[in-house]
Amino acid sequence: MAETFLTPDQQETLLSIEDLFVEYHTDDGIIQAVNGISLHLRKGESLGIVGETGAGKTTTAMSILRLLPPQVGKQVGGRICYCGVALDDAAESTMRQIRGNKISMIFQDPMTSLNPSMRIGAQIAEVIQVHNEHLNKEQVQEQVDKILSLVGILPARKNDFPHQFSGGMKQRVVIAIALACQPDLLIADEPTTALDVTIQAQVLNMIEDLKSQLGTSLILISHDLGVIARMCDTVAIMYAGEIIEYGTAQDIYEGSVHHPYTDGLFGSIPDLTKNHARLTPIDGLMPDPSDLPAGCKFHPRCQYCTEICRETAPPDHHINGTHFIKCHRCAGGER
Ligand SMILES: Nc1ncnc2c1ncn2[C@@H]1O[C@H](COP(=O)(O)OP(=O)(O)OP(=O)(O)O)[C@@H](O)[C@H]1O
Ligand SMILES: [Mg+2]
Repeated sequence: MAETFLTPDQQETLLSIEDLFVEYHTDDGIIQAVNGISLHLRKGESLGIVGETGAGKTTTAMSILRLLPPQVGKQVGGRICYCGVALDDAAESTMRQIRGNKISMIFQDPMTSLNPSMRIGAQIAEVIQVHNEHLNKEQVQEQVDKILSLVGILPARKNDFPHQFSGGMKQRVVIAIALACQPDLLIADEPTTALDVTIQAQVLNMIEDLKSQLGTSLILISHDLGVIARMCDTVAIMYAGEIIEYGTAQDIYEGSVHHPYTDGLFGSIPDLTKNHARLTPIDGLMPDPSDLPAGCKFHPRCQYCTEICRETAPPDHHINGTHFIKCHRCAGGER
């Protein structure tokens, strides 16, 4: 039986993730990719997820849509609810209602979402037709032309196949398909990483237009703190499968107290208004996710590490009503 979703207006919280744990079971062992994250997203809100490679950002996004690789990727704990429906034990038919229709995802690699043997116009038309059953063929083609123009691709190229486009153009086709769905929630996983700076700006503008015109909520995954600052209301900083700091954009970008890892992230980007002798990157590497350290997972790289950090995982320490940091040093009032 199909699930009854509350409309986004009936629910203040569109998406809630409570204490999510995800593992990958591989021949080389168990990889603990997501280790107890909780997130809440309201209608129309934009959440940025930042963190270095391997932090578990894509895994979190894939868990929401239940697209983890079968047999290998497993949600081993926690709850994901979308508009009042628990997704983790929902029927596959419910998930099909959700994917594309209510939640669209722009994947990190555009080729993951495009069918290499189908003309791009036909791929966009298919989505438009599913979402607008009343339109006839000509009207669907008009929509295809309109949406291609919107993402800066000449409608005349709609009969081309994905391999005939550059990486940036393929990503724009993927975005066109995501826009055609008019989702309530758009999850964009590094949507602009493969694009040059001018096209990056255009793509971000497009996502912003979608947000303001349709009230679409956004989860934006990025390494780029500048992009997150521009687009997002709240920011989650991920490290080794945990959210180690969370707050409003103001808390993260203007607050004076941060997790040492967040300080490190900001220390690794140039500030053109200041005259730095050199940047201060974070020493060391993310821990092996199949053999995570005890205590605070950041402790082997942390210059402030003490005995308690090596032994006990830090709780969320609330700085104010919206900002928390998972760090013993902050909890001890040293920052
Ligand atoms: N299919 C898979 N099989 C085994 N391990 C995986 C698989 N997918 C991801 N992982 C592992 O899970 C961890 C989290 O990966 P994930 O792709 O979620 O990171 P990410 O934060 O999105 O990184 P990036 O910024 O590089 O995209 C990593 O250690 C990764 O190697
Ligand atoms: Mg990723």
